[in-house]
Amino acid sequence: MKKATKLMTLVLALVLALSCFAGCGKGNSIEAVQKAGVITVATSPDFPPFESLDGDQIVGIEVDVMAIIAEELGVDVEYVQMDFDSVLPGVQAGKFDVGMSGITVTAEREENADFTMPYFLASQAIIVPAGSDITCKADLTGKLIAVQTGTTAESYCMDEGYEVQAYQANNDAASALTSGKVDAWVVDNEVAVAFAAQLGDAVIVLDEKMTSEPYAFAFVKGSETLVEAFNEVIVAMIEDGTMEAIFTEYGVTYVAPEM
Ligand code: ARG
Repeated sequence: MKKATKLMTLVLALVLALSCFAGCGKGNSIEAVQKAGVITVATSPDFPPFESLDGDQIVGIEVDVMAIIAEELGVDVEYVQMDFDSVLPGVQAGKFDVGMSGITVTAEREENADFTMPYFLASQAIIVPAGSDITCKADLTGKLIAVQTGTTAESYCMDEGYEVQAYQANNDAASALTSGKVDAWVVDNEVAVAFAAQLGDAVIVLDEKMTSEPYAFAFVKGSETLVEAFNEVIVAMIEDGTMEAIFTEYGVTYVAPEM
């Protein structure tokens, strides 16, 4: 190689390295998503009525909300399924454009990801087998509690000092409860109601609002324009009643988050 060519190659390599240094790890943007024409959505579809599987179709409240947002942004939606504890890490690593999984916004999560404004306010609830001696939160002490791995239910129960058995998938937590492997299952309130409806008389949802869980969509840090674009649609949907109508369709009383 000629000296000049060598130098050029070196300069080029340096420029590439530097531009990657400046660009790599940066957030996502609405421009990038619209250019791609598709938004990739990481989701754990074991969370009815927000997202669950109907055959191989992902259906639910969040699917309907996402469809409207994507339509407004002029992009297609591509779902990628995974366990809940992979959703936020995948989004944070820039593997997916958005995390959609009934994700509760917490101060800790906000340090590692960007969130839209909340669009619903949930809480943690307790499900017990019919006839259980657990009738309220205070009875959970000393019992074995099922939770889903990586959720706010898990961190809440651990903070309360409960004995916790974590399951990757909510369906496994449900079977653990009905087969008597655990004494109770702590899960988000509307999900508790949906599973109880599936499980019939075998279980009871206790009327305890243990936490306050604002749900939002998650992005890699530095995705301000994307968050803004989502927020615009979410605000409009809340204001014109579309959001509430979607929840009503699924038999859920809409609880608006604080705006
Ligand atoms: N809201 C809870 C959390 O953010 C549970 C979410 C679980 N979502 C799911 N699709 N399984 O930790």
